[in-house]
Amino acid sequence: MPKCTIDGKEVEFKAGENLVTVAKRVGAEIPVFCYHPGLSVVAQCRMCYVEVEKMPKLQTACSTLAAEGMVVKTQSEAVKKGRAGTMEFLLLNHPLDCPICDKAGECDLQDNSFGHGSEFMRHSEERRTYVDVDMGPVIQKNMNRCIHCTRCIRFGEEVAGIHEMVAIKRGNNIDITTIDGKQLKTEYAGNYSDICPTGSLTLKDFRFKKRAWMLKKTATICEGCSKGCNMEVQQEGNVVYRCVPRENLEINKYWMCDEGRFNYHYVQDPSRIVSPMKRSGDSWLVSPWEELLVNFRTDSAGTGVMLLIGTDLTLEEMKAIQETAKALSPRAAILSFGTPGVESTTQDGPRDQILKMKSKTSNLKGAEMLGIQPLLGAAKSDVVLVFRGGRAELPRIEAKKAYGVGVFLEKERNHFHAILPGLSFLEKEGTVVNHQGKEQSLKRALLPRGKSKAIGEILMLALHQRNGEVTA
Ligand code: SF4
Ligand code: SF4
Ligand code: FES
Repeated sequence: MPKCTIDGKEVEFKAGENLVTVAKRVGAEIPVFCYHPGLSVVAQCRMCYVEVEKMPKLQTACSTLAAEGMVVKTQSEAVKKGRAGTMEFLLLNHPLDCPICDKAGECDLQDNSFGHGSEFMRHSEERRTYVDVDMGPVIQKNMNRCIHCTRCIRFGEEVAGIHEMVAIKRGNNIDITTIDGKQLKTEYAGNYSDICPTGSLTLKDFRFKKRAWMLKKTATICEGCSKGCNMEVQQEGNVVYRCVPRENLEINKYWMCDEGRFNYHYVQDPSRIVSPMKRSGDSWLVSPWEELLVNFRTDSAGTGVMLLIGTDLTLEEMKAIQETAKALSPRAAILSFGTPGVESTTQDGPRDQILKMKSKTSNLKGAEMLGIQPLLGAAKSDVVLVFRGGRAELPRIEAKKAYGVGVFLEKERNHFHAILPGLSFLEKEGTVVNHQGKEQSLKRALLPRGKSKAIGEILMLALHQRNGEVTA
C-alpha cells in the first residue's frame, strides 16, 4: 500500500482517500464544515487547511488526495493562522445565539470556533439578519446561522434525488432557500438537520424541547421497514426526544427516512395500552394480570385456535411463541402478519430509490427463516391470539374470542376481547433480520411503560398459571 507522512507519522492509504480521512488514522482531526463523507467534495468553506510539502499555498485537506511520499502538516503556524482566518470570516455575520440554539452542544461551528478560532472579534459592523422560514412539517430555517457550506443543497441533489434547496444571490447577500420558497417535499427531510453543521436547519419535532447534552443515547435499529437502518435513540427521563441515523455503509450509509425517524412517537403515545385490560360490554376494564393470564391460557388450549405473529417482533420473541405454543396451544395454526400485500420476502423490494422498503416491518425475513407461513386474508377462527411489536398492520379478525399480546393503542382495542400489554422495540433487546439477511440487534433504550411485560414473560406466566397462581 502507498504511504504518506502526516505530522511526522508515516501512514498507509488507499488510492482515492483524501487527507481528512488519512489524517484520522494518525489521530489528527482536521476541522471541516462543507466536507461530508456521503456527499461530493466542493472545498468551499476553507476550514480544512493543511500544509503540504512542495506546495506553496495552504491546501484544503478535503479535496487533496493522499499521494505516495506526500508530507503533510496539520498543526503548523501557517495552518493555524489560515483556519483562524476562515473562522473569523465565517463568524462575521453569525449571531451570538448559542444559548438559544438547538445545535448548541453538538455544533461544528461552536467546536471549530473553540478549537481553531480567535478569542477576539475585529468586526464591529451590524450583522446581516433574516427572519425564520417555515420549510414544511419537518424543518424550520434560521438563515442567520447559515455558513453557506451547501451540504443541504448537495444532500437534496445527490442523496434525496430532489433539487429543492438552492443558493440565491451572491456574496454578502447569499441566501440558502428552497426554489420559489416552496416547502420541502422529500421524505428524507430530517437529514437536512443532521448534516447542517450549524443551527440553521432545525428539526421542528425536536426544537426547543431538550438541550443536546442532556440526552442519553442508545445505538439501535429502526423498525420502520425491512431496510433495518441503524439509528440512535436519544432520551431523557424515559422520554424519547429524537432519533438520528447511525453510519452503516452497507445498509443506510449516513441517512434515514422521516417515517422511521418519527416512528418513535407511538411508543410514548398517551393512548398506548400499558395495563392488562378486558372488554366488558361496551367498555374496557383494567384487570389483574393473573385473571387475564388464566383466561388466556384456558382459551388458547382449545381447538380452533389461530396464533398470529407480527413480523415486527424479534427472532427471539417469534421463537419463544413457536416453542411455547407446543405446550400452551398445541393445536393452533401459527401464521405471520405485517404488511398487507407484502406477505413474503419475494413481494418485498425497494419503495423508492433511496432506503425505504415495501415491507413496513423490520423482521419479515426472520419470520420466514423460522418457517412461519403468512396469513392470507382475514383471521377467521374461534380464538385468535395476536402477538405484535407495534407496527405490524392488524388483519381483519373474525373470532369468538381475540387476544392482543404486545403493543396496541386504544383505537385498536376493539379488535380484541382482552389486551396483554407488551414491550415496544425501544424497550427490549433482540435480533431482527433485514431484507439483505443481515442480523442486527435491538438495544433497550427505555424502561417498560406501565405494567407492560416482555412477551417471553407473558408466555411463561400463562404456561405456569394454575387458578391464578404461578406454579413453576
Ligand atoms: S443551511 Fe446549514 S447545511 Fe445548508 S448551507 Fe447553511 S449551514 Fe450549510
Ligand atoms: S428506510 Fe426503513 S429502516 Fe430506514 S429509516 Fe426509513 S423506515 Fe426506518
Ligand atoms: S471542509 Fe474542506 S474546504 Fe470545507
